[in-house]
Amino acid sequence: MTIGDCKDRSLAPAGQQRIEWADDNMPVLKGIREEWEKTRPLAGVRIAACLHVTTETANLMRTLKAGGAEVALCASNPLSTQDDVAAALNEVYGIPTFAIRGEDEETYYSHIRSVLATGPQVTMDDGADLVTTLHGERQDLLPQIVGGTEETTTGVIRLKAMERDGYLRFPVVAVNEARTKHMFDNRYGTGQSTVDGILRATNALIAGSTFVVVGYGWCGRGVAARARGMGADVIVVEVDPLRALEAVMDGYRVMPMEKAAPQGHFFVTVTGNRDAIREEHFRAMRDGAIIANAGHFDVEINIPALAAMARERRQVRPNVEEFVLQDGRRVRLLAEGRLVNLGAAEGHPAQVMDMSFANQALSVAWLVQRAGQLERKVYAVPDDIDREVARRKLASMGVALEELTPVQREYLNSWQFGT
Ligand code: ADE
Repeated sequence: MTIGDCKDRSLAPAGQQRIEWADDNMPVLKGIREEWEKTRPLAGVRIAACLHVTTETANLMRTLKAGGAEVALCASNPLSTQDDVAAALNEVYGIPTFAIRGEDEETYYSHIRSVLATGPQVTMDDGADLVTTLHGERQDLLPQIVGGTEETTTGVIRLKAMERDGYLRFPVVAVNEARTKHMFDNRYGTGQSTVDGILRATNALIAGSTFVVVGYGWCGRGVAARARGMGADVIVVEVDPLRALEAVMDGYRVMPMEKAAPQGHFFVTVTGNRDAIREEHFRAMRDGAIIANAGHFDVEINIPALAAMARERRQVRPNVEEFVLQDGRRVRLLAEGRLVNLGAAEGHPAQVMDMSFANQALSVAWLVQRAGQLERKVYAVPDDIDREVARRKLASMGVALEELTPVQREYLNSWQFGT
């Protein structure tokens, strides 16, 4: 029993069972945990984490605790909390967890404040709400902060803006920048779990549909690949010429949103920007269009505009809200426009979170080892950590590497060999 705040503590046994299931698919993180039980690199370090409260996050929290840290956790999104996991963290694992699925904005921020009240020395964020609240409301804590980590693209963008404005007051490791993070979690994790969320919410057939992916970053590439794999005709909407070109050569139709809007059966936003789908697009959509967001914040679909256009809105299935436009056409919004993969499904599978969270754990240890020596800026994950995570993941999969011969090594290090 801890001081945390969760929906129903009696859900703890179900949460524990699911956490253990995920753990079975997180061999890299488990390996770190087993080493840390002996070496205790985080002994006595207080960590405040603001992450999606899922089974995978629970295993990261267990790992930090095994390393000797005192951890407190809150949600990084009001709709992503798995209530059984929050209960198990509080009841079984003794990790104070403040998170309730569906919490309103006031509760969401009160939970962030509760975690900050534990007096952290290290922060862990997914979207930078913890760091921005700390900088805004708890500047008294700043002198004791050793550093922080950030999980996601949107959070890294916010932190870099803070650094640029001279506002960032401690070092933060951008976990998202690790190749063993974004090339797998963002691509395969978001790809699969977004389709999973759409299917769980709607049970709609993707084969034969037109599926519009707005944004062709790592997440968009993943969503487009999985939608195509399920038989959809995929349209990509992109503002960046290089990404648009890549999408064309990957075999997708690429066009502006205005042209895509009347064609799509499904729309998924993964831009990191606001208003990617807005009034003029809703106006052009076919009856029954399904729209979802897989970007970090719920601003990518302009929901207030949709609400203002609708003569009626109603919940038609769990995680599906239908907006009836003046002429009777219906637009169906999934998971309130919040991350559909976490709101309507269980988020990225454990196998990819294994790498993301191994990076998180090793980055925290890296920060703690360098306490007081780093600058107030956003750091990349050190290359040796990134490679170490890849090596451990391959080993867990039973995949061996080829080795360079001495002659090949010499060849790579010489400039004399030419035509
Ligand atoms: N972000 C996306 N999927 C996640 C998961 N399963 N756990 C934690 N954070 C996530």
